[in-house]
Amino acid sequence: MSFFTDRVALVTGGASGIGKAVADKLITFGARVAIWDIREDRLAECKERYGNRVLTQSVDVADRNAVDLAATEVAEAWGGIDHLLNNAGIIGHRMTVEDLDEAELDRVLAVNLKSAFLVSSAFIRTPRTSSDRSIVNLSSIAARTGGMVGNIAYATTKGAMSSFTHALAKELAPHVRVNALAPGVINTEIQKDVFADPASIDAMANLIPLKRLGTAEEVAGAAVWLLSRDAAYITGVVLDVSGGR
Ligand SMILES: NC(=O)c1ccc[n+]([C@@H]2O[C@H](COP(=O)([O-])OP(=O)(O)OC[C@H]3O[C@@H](n4cnc5c(N)ncnc54)[C@H](O)[C@@H]3O)[C@@H](O)[C@H]2O)c1
Repeated sequence: MSFFTDRVALVTGGASGIGKAVADKLITFGARVAIWDIREDRLAECKERYGNRVLTQSVDVADRNAVDLAATEVAEAWGGIDHLLNNAGIIGHRMTVEDLDEAELDRVLAVNLKSAFLVSSAFIRTPRTSSDRSIVNLSSIAARTGGMVGNIAYATTKGAMSSFTHALAKELAPHVRVNALAPGVINTEIQKDVFADPASIDAMANLIPLKRLGTAEEVAGAAVWLLSRDAAYITGVVLDVSGGR
């Protein structure tokens, strides 16, 4: 028996990268995981791999109706939701503030930030199946470094995600703990441009005290720990997972 045995977790953007690595660990520890994503091909792969340990749902996290409907389906299937990873995110088109068109700005704000409000609200409104519920949000070190030039909307949403974490932790205490992770550069699809070029991998690695980029599994380890009872006295924290950068 582990802390997560038969607990229900919801992972947004869980069909690839960090979300998938978190879902994988939670399932290994005995949880049932609702995986929300817009990539139907990858959702089908998750279903094939994990069977009835997962509920795969095609959900755009920026769409309130879709979010509320999907949360109701999870509660009907499994009785409630104990843990939430607000993880779905996009980097957006690389543009300076001068060039950033309104539609692209709205898209990045909606997927990276509005979604956290919508999904957290749906999570809180679902029935409780346990007394120690927890949320982990995906911020980024871009919240304090400003990220790469051209990703200003992305960095701004991550700064807001850290503030959202501090505020929501106060709002939901003492019943639900809320923390965030701030990864550095992690080898997932969102960073495919960096990882396609060995010179840019080396340049990035040189800026990092541990001298290498990170993996989704390393971020997942920190996420699962923060979600678990081992972090029972921690709330409102943003934890860097960045090799010391
Ligand atoms: N990889 C990094 O270097 C890094 C660094 C800091 C923070 N992060 C954050 O980690 C989170 C996960 O990113 P990742 O690195 O695993 O990238 P990823 O691209 O592998 O995963 C993101 C997932 O979100 C899904 N998604 C996108 N838009 C969605 C929507 N509207 N509704 C539902 N799902 C949607 C994608 O289909 C994808 O499966 C993001 O919030 C990202 O900003 C990543």
